[in-house]
Amino acid sequence: MKNKELKNRDLNVLWHPCTQMKDHEILPLIPIQKAHGVWLEDFEGNKYIDAVSSWWVNIFGHTNRYINEKIKEQLDRLEHVILAGFTHEGVVELSERLVRLTPKGLDRCFYSDNGSSAVEVALKMSYHAHYNDGIKDKNIFVSLANSYHGETIGALSVGDVELYKQVYEPLLLKTLQTPVPSDMSIDAAVKAANEFEKLCIDRSDEISAIILEPLVQGAGYMHMYHGEFLVLVRNICNKYNIHLIADEVMVGFGRTGELFACQKANITPDFLVLSKGLTGGYLPLSVVLTSDEIYAKFYCDYNEHKAFLHSHSYTGNALACAAANATLDIFENDNVIEENKKTAKYIAKKLEKFLELQNVASIRQTGMICAVELKGYEASERIGLKVYQYALDNEVLLRPLGHVIYFMPPYVITNKEIDKVMNVAFEAIEAL
Ligand SMILES: Cc1ncc(COP(=O)(O)O)c(C=O)c1O
Repeated sequence: MKNKELKNRDLNVLWHPCTQMKDHEILPLIPIQKAHGVWLEDFEGNKYIDAVSSWWVNIFGHTNRYINEKIKEQLDRLEHVILAGFTHEGVVELSERLVRLTPKGLDRCFYSDNGSSAVEVALKMSYHAHYNDGIKDKNIFVSLANSYHGETIGALSVGDVELYKQVYEPLLLKTLQTPVPSDMSIDAAVKAANEFEKLCIDRSDEISAIILEPLVQGAGYMHMYHGEFLVLVRNICNKYNIHLIADEVMVGFGRTGELFACQKANITPDFLVLSKGLTGGYLPLSVVLTSDEIYAKFYCDYNEHKAFLHSHSYTGNALACAAANATLDIFENDNVIEENKKTAKYIAKKLEKFLELQNVASIRQTGMICAVELKGYEASERIGLKVYQYALDNEVLLRPLGHVIYFMPPYVITNKEIDKVMNVAFEAIEAL
């Protein structure tokens, strides 16, 4: 009863993200009353495994006791304070830890409150750093084909998923796309890097930065590529005075098998963008890390007009920082990266079975992200929606991207819960 009542009240007043609202004439909207671990529960006791970590944010489960405790402690001390002119313990501690944990050479943290706004920060900082060097023509950003960096105008401009971008094309910044490696091989990485270098030879005078999602393009249908591409791009960027922006909003915090994806390729980007898992999926927070060298380009007397005058009201929010520090505590105390390797291995074994299905084109996996690509369907058939519906009817939340069914569960998922997710997905695909 409460489910129905809340659904009706919701549909009277809400407009949901990334949703054709008319779909809710046939699709259920699910009111969640409570959640714990990987399980979400509605008002009638129906339960769902959150196999997508609630849009890739939740890493240590819902209502995690330790993170809850740390946020509650913080709540009675300080909820928020302006971060211009003021500071607080949580944000200092978090920044020191991030500088220590991220690739060597990233020394400064600039906060905002979601992935898209952090991408905007990195783009503006890159352009402004060249500008402060007296180079004023570098006003184009390069991104990879099939990339996704968020929905605000700048972030959308560097994205390349047509579905989200097409309508807004006249509003967007001028950007260039260079090919993403077509598969996970080194050959594909070399080929794509050569294409990027050709672009640099022609236009490096205009290019401020290249932005990319290291190793896995999330919203771009979980497309995966080899780390060698990052090494090659890093070298090309150095050669042509172009910044490298690593958008680890999705892949950061252990998703790919290391704490940060750039560490798998042993590279340091000029800007590292983090959000989502940063607070364990609890509160909106994002951060851009950069080098002291770039920071120094903005550091001078006020009247030289070189300061980065960018801000968001909730920058460095104290509750979000408490959640982030608690999240890093868990990484430190629970040997998470090593444990994830075991979980990823277990998932890999389960994933192989999908190749038995005739409508499966391929499977792929990078650490705690895996995907099953289907074949033989038209986009208009909306098979993803059918899989979504089937899974919900069987206690699993999947959110396919078109014809790609993917799994990105919280790290606390057990083998038994993995079995359930994989079995339900298998049956859903078989039933298509
Ligand atoms: C790689 C990447 N960058 C940026 C964003 C945007 O983050 P947000 O949704 O917090 O604005 C996303 C969101 O999915 C993402 O996957």
